[in-house]
Amino acid sequence: MRVIHLSLTDFRNYESVDLDLEPGPNLFVGSNGQGKTNLVEALGYLSTLASHRVSTDHAMIRQGHDAAIIRATLSNGEKSILAEVQLNRIGANRAQINRSAIKTRELPRYFSSVLFAPEDLALVRGDPSGRRRFLDELLVLRTPRMAGVLADYDRVLRQRNSLLKSARASGVRGNLSTLDIWDERLVTLGTEIIDARARLVDELRPEVDAAYASIAGIEHAASLATRLSILSSGIDPDEQEAAAEPVSADRLTAGQTAEAFAAAISRLRKSELERGITLVGPHRDDLVLTLNELPARGYASHGESWSFALALKLAAAAVLRRESSAGDPVLILDDVFAELDESRRGRLADAVASFEQVLITAAVGNDVPADLARAPVHIRAGRIVTASADE
Ligand SMILES: Nc1ncnc2c1ncn2[C@@H]1O[C@H](COP(=O)(O)OP(=O)(O)O)[C@@H](O)[C@H]1O
Ligand SMILES: [Mg+2]
Repeated sequence: MRVIHLSLTDFRNYESVDLDLEPGPNLFVGSNGQGKTNLVEALGYLSTLASHRVSTDHAMIRQGHDAAIIRATLSNGEKSILAEVQLNRIGANRAQINRSAIKTRELPRYFSSVLFAPEDLALVRGDPSGRRRFLDELLVLRTPRMAGVLADYDRVLRQRNSLLKSARASGVRGNLSTLDIWDERLVTLGTEIIDARARLVDELRPEVDAAYASIAGIEHAASLATRLSILSSGIDPDEQEAAAEPVSADRLTAGQTAEAFAAAISRLRKSELERGITLVGPHRDDLVLTLNELPARGYASHGESWSFALALKLAAAAVLRRESSAGDPVLILDDVFAELDESRRGRLADAVASFEQVLITAAVGNDVPADLARAPVHIRAGRIVTASADE
């Protein structure tokens, strides 16, 4: 799959931009703060409905304006489609495919991309929520139906939490039949998420190890394990992390998840009522990353953490590529090369060379290996400028 054309209106610092993209590598060059990341952020949004930098959409709407529009012509081999999303300051966002309205959350069906940016270091060093988001975004790209399951789970979780809170406030301990209904929904939806993540992690595992070796040029046994809150004592995630053994999903065989989930909920009923929150479920799980059997978080060096984060993204791209009938995901490397030494740059260039389309940003064009740096596009102050005008 690839992007043929991108047009932005009032997106970040772009008042209006129209840009043709090439198959293979596309390099965007410009000094800091000119709009390179903004450009690729727009494409990332089109494929995941999220920015890799901000959690609210409003930051992406140009200052002083009411709406931003991202519009892209995409090709997946034979077909080309026009995908569009409008981010509104007031009211819901709107999406269109070939100029017909669709539900915004359906948009990721049409475009898959994998974006890697310096912020992704948090995948390795940050808290579990970033790793859960990594898995869930990939689940949705692979199986769009999962967007609905994840949204339903969130809704059930919120409802159940507010019920727990009001039960706590009113001191109700006996009559909790409503809670049973939410428990059942929570377990059904949560089980689907836990099992889907587990299958995904199984697929990612060998890819991550291979990608790490290909980037770092060294075998470091980069591995993944799932820490499941339903198998834990329900203590705080931070305490769980301090515990020596990750509570691993490997201990569950297929079909046992729902049972373990239901058992955890009844075991923790008292604590949940005391605290007024749902203590176990996929919203409290973690993906534990290890290098040579040591947790990467807290042990890996800066360079190792960086390689691991990149390996996760390349593994995601490999999994999507293998499965998709629409071809490779578009690979986006935002400001990555400046962080790498010469040999890692070369190895990364080799690792991405076979992708249908790769979008790369760099402040310094020379940081990017020559194979990926054909016909760079120069960006200044939210405009595409000619190469000579950039100096
Ligand atoms: N909503 C917005 N409206 C106007 N300008 C914005 C908005 N969001 C970001 N910017 C501007 O975009 C620029 C940053 O662009 P960015 O793509 O991150 O730069 P870089 O080229 O370094 O990747 C900054 O000058 C910032 O002020
Ligand atoms: Mg940038």
